[in-house]
Amino acid sequence: MADPIASLTGFVQNAIATSFGEEWRDADPVIRPANKKQTSADVQVNAAMALAKKVGKNPREVATAIVEALKADSAAMQLISDVEIAGPGFLNITLSTDWVAAQASTILADGTLGVLPPSKLEVIPLDYSSPNVAKEMHVGHLRTTVVGDSLARVLERLGHTVVRQNHVGDWGTPFGMLIEHLLEVGENSPEAELLETDPNAFYQAARVKFDTAEKAEPAGSKGDFNMRARKRVTLLQGGDPETLAHWNKLMDRSKAYFNRVYSTLGVTLTDADLAGESTYNDELAGICEDLESRGIARISDGALCIFQDEFTGRDDAPVPLIIRKSDGGYGYATTDLATVRHRSQDLLGDRLVYVVGAPQNLHFRMTWSAADKAGYIRPESTPIHVQIGSVLGADGKMLKTRSGDSVRLMELLDEAIERAEKVVAESKADMTDAERAVVARQVGIGAVKYSDLSVSHDSEYTFDFDRMLALTGNTGPYLQYAATRIRSILAKAADAGATPASAITIGEDAERALALKLLDYGAVVALVGETLEPHRLAAYLFELATAFTAFYEKCPVLKADDDAVRDSRLALCALTLQVLSDGLGLLGIETPEKM
Ligand code: ARG
Repeated sequence: MADPIASLTGFVQNAIATSFGEEWRDADPVIRPANKKQTSADVQVNAAMALAKKVGKNPREVATAIVEALKADSAAMQLISDVEIAGPGFLNITLSTDWVAAQASTILADGTLGVLPPSKLEVIPLDYSSPNVAKEMHVGHLRTTVVGDSLARVLERLGHTVVRQNHVGDWGTPFGMLIEHLLEVGENSPEAELLETDPNAFYQAARVKFDTAEKAEPAGSKGDFNMRARKRVTLLQGGDPETLAHWNKLMDRSKAYFNRVYSTLGVTLTDADLAGESTYNDELAGICEDLESRGIARISDGALCIFQDEFTGRDDAPVPLIIRKSDGGYGYATTDLATVRHRSQDLLGDRLVYVVGAPQNLHFRMTWSAADKAGYIRPESTPIHVQIGSVLGADGKMLKTRSGDSVRLMELLDEAIERAEKVVAESKADMTDAERAVVARQVGIGAVKYSDLSVSHDSEYTFDFDRMLALTGNTGPYLQYAATRIRSILAKAADAGATPASAITIGEDAERALALKLLDYGAVVALVGETLEPHRLAAYLFELATAFTAFYEKCPVLKADDDAVRDSRLALCALTLQVLSDGLGLLGIETPEKM
């Protein structure tokens, strides 16, 4: 363990147990980073406050006993250079600078960067991205894709088994009309091509045909396109082979579209991760029968519904969760009863994570509570909704184009790359045009992703190109730039024949502050794995880059006074670069070679 808090915990627990008895060993020692405005110490231990009442002493007496026990423990004193009692009974601990230097050297040498597997390794089905077929992926899907992918990377890095579940909307009544439209325009026509370039346009064209047919007068002329579309739905649901073949054509085109978005974004999803609504089709009738026969669901107004006392509407009456409509069709909720059962019982998931827009929270709570009542969720499984906040335009409203349409994702990404080209063009780094194009893509996509990830996932955020592409402040390009700057220091050093030392030594405060920041990395990654909040990693990386800047201003590297100092500083640079690019990698952001 390299991070100071985790490393100190056992020693403080020992000190408490020696002073007050074994029964208090597991009491939370309440160890936190010290408030730098109040003290020059590194860590504060607040255990005495909570313990005092329980052991019948005042907090200062408790604190004194803990300090004495710590001081008598030679192993603890390897970490601690100073421990003081402050205020009513807080302990301020200053870490030994030699220990900090040794830990930093270790995580550089062993390559772990301080990231260690958690005590329990889990299987984690992870539902993310989950766009709808023949519909444009919108910025909401962009955010669930980016946040979900980062979570997948972090959880896998920690050693968990992630089972990606791209729950695409590939089933339901619109598919009748979509298939009929595809047949009319021809499967290889330019109109069909739209499925890959502008899926909304394809959808709208089908919709217009359907609606026009619905309204057609006289009534006798009604019933052509719309009747065929309806019949097609029935055929599709009945598994008619020819209809399924057409449906597959539609799917192939949609998959090509999704994959283009994913590869532009650099997202880890592949076709193997598709687990769309259609895959649950065969289970829905059985689920309805099962729930009805056990009295968990009942017919109301012709529809099969689950009423739960915990979910009431305005009149305090339970709101129904409809699992079979009066026309016999199944809905979104029915499918999600199936997803949670499958992920718990077949995939044997521990945490079952759904990265989906915040507005769907009630849907998930109602569905999971029903699934729970039905015994579909093993006690070992915990479903979790990682709520994704809406993405707003610069005007504070839902992001729309000027004409009021929803923004096409590919256009948005292309614009990000184009704007990044301008940013990169201004850089002084010497690059070929081809290299510049690569960097522009990394910077443009990195900027979009970072701005999605740096805000807590459940809060709304404003999509603003100028801000996300700025080279200063808490942005993706700033962090990428910080990394490339370190890379060029290391390259210059190599040219001068200097290599990073294998052991870091610390002389200056700025070196110490940077090394301490580096030691936190493992704990931050672990925390993201627990809380499923990637913005904590983003915030950490920004702090790290800031600590590096302060270090670089105070401590000359290539022009250091002597070679040993230079090589130790080079090692700090190397470790910072590794942590920065590893951390950006966990956010799904590439680190350019130059910038
Ligand atoms: N396709 C849905 C949408 O676009 C998201 C699906 C999320 N996953 C789930 N299991 N319901 O809103």
